[in-house]
Amino acid sequence: MSDNSNALKQQAAEAAIAYVEGGIIGVGTGSTVNYFIDALAKIKGRIEGAVSSSEASTARLRQHGIEVLELNSVGTLALYVDGADESNARLQLIKGGGGALTREKIVAAASERFVCIADASKLVPVLGAFPLPVEVIPMARSLVARELTRLGGTPVWREGFVTDNGNPILDVQGLRIEDPLALEQTINQMAGVVTVGLFAHRPADVLILGSAAGPTTLTAAD
Ligand code: A5P
Repeated sequence: MSDNSNALKQQAAEAAIAYVEGGIIGVGTGSTVNYFIDALAKIKGRIEGAVSSSEASTARLRQHGIEVLELNSVGTLALYVDGADESNARLQLIKGGGGALTREKIVAAASERFVCIADASKLVPVLGAFPLPVEVIPMARSLVARELTRLGGTPVWREGFVTDNGNPILDVQGLRIEDPLALEQTINQMAGVVTVGLFAHRPADVLILGSAAGPTTLTAAD
């Protein structure tokens, strides 16, 4: 990753601090979120703690002395901040490049506002150039791969990787996702699928893009 790209991720992450109003913050996963966690640490006195979407983010939050709470013990969250691998203009996302898609989808579903942070290269006209991650139950890996092939994609097993939930991931290449809502529903219905990394039924509410001209903010209504 270039220094420039990292600077843009950091810019978007720091801009997201303006959305932190206290309470318990939902925290996603990835290199952009790592910058957000570092920025959150500077204002940690203003928050009560965080709900984390991965073991990696949990470790980083704790290193900064931010308390990590179980989602089951906190109820609805006002704010969730997370990155994305791709976003379209409707703020429908591909996520899961880092493999945390299932917990990310759970925390996003439990949150009133989802602020997505990314560098500007992640905004695309049509989702799908980034391989779509699908977390599956281990015994269903081949079955789901055959079904994904029938949809026109090329699933590739992310070998040597298991999620925090102990499951493998198929990365589906070659999809041009014109109807993210329908595809999310179709893949969700396949037996053995745990989570598809399409966030269309629960898109982001706000997208902050780091760019050379400074952070740009899009909302689903734009
Ligand atoms: C983690 O599983 C992903 O959903 C990340 O949010 C996504 O891959 C973005 O990661 P970066 O911030 O590292 O680009």
